[in-house]
Amino acid sequence: MDILQKTIDFVKAELNNAEGGHDWWHCYRVWKTAKTIAIKENYPDIQTIELAALLHDIADSKFNDGDETIGPKKARAFLESLGLEERRLNDIVAVIENISFKGGNFEPNYHSKALDIVQDADRLDAMGAIGIARAFNYGGYKNRALYHPDIKPDMNLSKEAYKKSTAPTINHFYEKLLRLKDRMNTHTAQILAEERHRFMQAYLQQFYREWDGVLDAVTTNHN
Ligand code: ADP
Ligand code: NI
Repeated sequence: MDILQKTIDFVKAELNNAEGGHDWWHCYRVWKTAKTIAIKENYPDIQTIELAALLHDIADSKFNDGDETIGPKKARAFLESLGLEERRLNDIVAVIENISFKGGNFEPNYHSKALDIVQDADRLDAMGAIGIARAFNYGGYKNRALYHPDIKPDMNLSKEAYKKSTAPTINHFYEKLLRLKDRMNTHTAQILAEERHRFMQAYLQQFYREWDGVLDAVTTNHN
């Protein structure tokens, strides 16, 4: 069996009972999107991108008592078992260690083109139609309200406050999702992000209209 197929099987098995926004299919989408970006950006090492994307979320700290080292450790052990060459293995693990958006105050200190690409793909999956689905799925999993008109978004959440937040899911759009468009690393992802951003804005507009029972549809003159 080849390395890619072994990795797919490993990720599927690891994410067997995962929550719907963070499951095998999230890894699948990030894999496909990252590959698309890499090709468009003429990145030469597609295997590094594919393996890093597939393995980027196998043990999220949110579901492991905040431990952020479990995912990279598991990924490293798996890649070692494949006999992957040392340099590529280190590049992949570095991507996985550095990928996550940790609220507003996180300062990245590691850079690579592979990280740029996989991070863009991961962020794109939090935007658009799928991003909306994932946000409400996560909010439901945490038993959060959809929306509360009196609970305003907090645009300066620290990493810890961001993790502990119990705010309604709509707030997450302002605290994170609508800010992702300006955080894309690659030109290709910027273009993809614009479209997903516009879709989320249109969604929110419609959400508030429905919330307040705006009656346009029945008050418009129909000829
Ligand atoms: P990833 O690990 O894929 O980079 P996160 O762990 O930050 O992303 O979030 C996973 C998914 O859950 C994303 O779609 C994100 O928008 C959603 N999510 C995270 N925190 C919240 C929240 N407080 N409310 C609603 N959705 C959330
Ligand atoms: Ni992810």
